[in-house]
Amino acid sequence: MGSSELLAKIKHGGNIPKHIAIIMDGNGRWAENRKLPRTEGHRAGMKAVREVIEGSMEAGVEVLTLFAFSKENWKRPRLETDALMGLLRLYIRKEKRKLQEKGVEVHVLGDLTDVGKNTREAISEIVDETSGGGNLRLNLMLSYSGRDDVVQACRVFMEEVLQGELELADLNEEVLSHRLFTSGIPDPDLLIRTSGEFRVSNFMLWQIAYTELSIVDTLWPEFSREQLFEVISDYQLRDRRFGMISGQDDLDIGRIN
Ligand code: IPE
Ligand code: IPE
Ligand code: MG
Repeated sequence: MGSSELLAKIKHGGNIPKHIAIIMDGNGRWAENRKLPRTEGHRAGMKAVREVIEGSMEAGVEVLTLFAFSKENWKRPRLETDALMGLLRLYIRKEKRKLQEKGVEVHVLGDLTDVGKNTREAISEIVDETSGGGNLRLNLMLSYSGRDDVVQACRVFMEEVLQGELELADLNEEVLSHRLFTSGIPDPDLLIRTSGEFRVSNFMLWQIAYTELSIVDTLWPEFSREQLFEVISDYQLRDRRFGMISGQDDLDIGRIN
């Protein structure tokens, strides 16, 4: 099926996920398969980023979250981390205008303390210039760690307690959620990981509690909007139960109690 048929199929197929998160993995292997330096794989991955942004907008997805760089990725050789930050700056320079015109609002979430000044400036520009875009919210997760996200949220909460703004007894899931980097965004409905690895690598650990998972073998540079639509089509067949039983609705819960 071509991309327009697949798009029509998912549009008629039921629920479009509101929030899709993607662990964009396999750039290094894509390059190694071609006897190219790993950084060429990261460069090639930019095309797939464009594909999923456009595909998400066509499908009517509201929030797209892309894992661009993990906190643990700082442990890679300096040559590679420098190249990745350079590519991020290049991406921002090349795509900023287009994203703004399309109404994509870009957010960059993570611990940016180790990110260099030039990159931080580029990030501020894209965030400021795309602010208010109402067609898609794009979260680029940079120097992000799911555990770190929870720890920093706890710190924020404890600070508020120390300041006397909240009490210890105020802590609950909602209060903690609102102090995560993803505050105010619904949890992902669908998490896609490319390159066939069956792990979450410290990504959004809190937020994916009830997220549907989809692992695809494709290496990230080859991921296309057709594949995104195929994954959404598969998602539409899932029975999300959230701990209840099939077909149960809120009224049923009332009856049981
Ligand atoms: C994903 O590709 C991009 C980042 C982690 C920044 P990898 O660089 O992890 O590629 P593989 O997993 O080595 O193939
Ligand atoms: C996860 O991929 C991080 C990103 C995609 C940015 P990794 O390649 O770093 O994960 P591991 O090391 O295979 O678990
Ligand atoms: Mg990898």
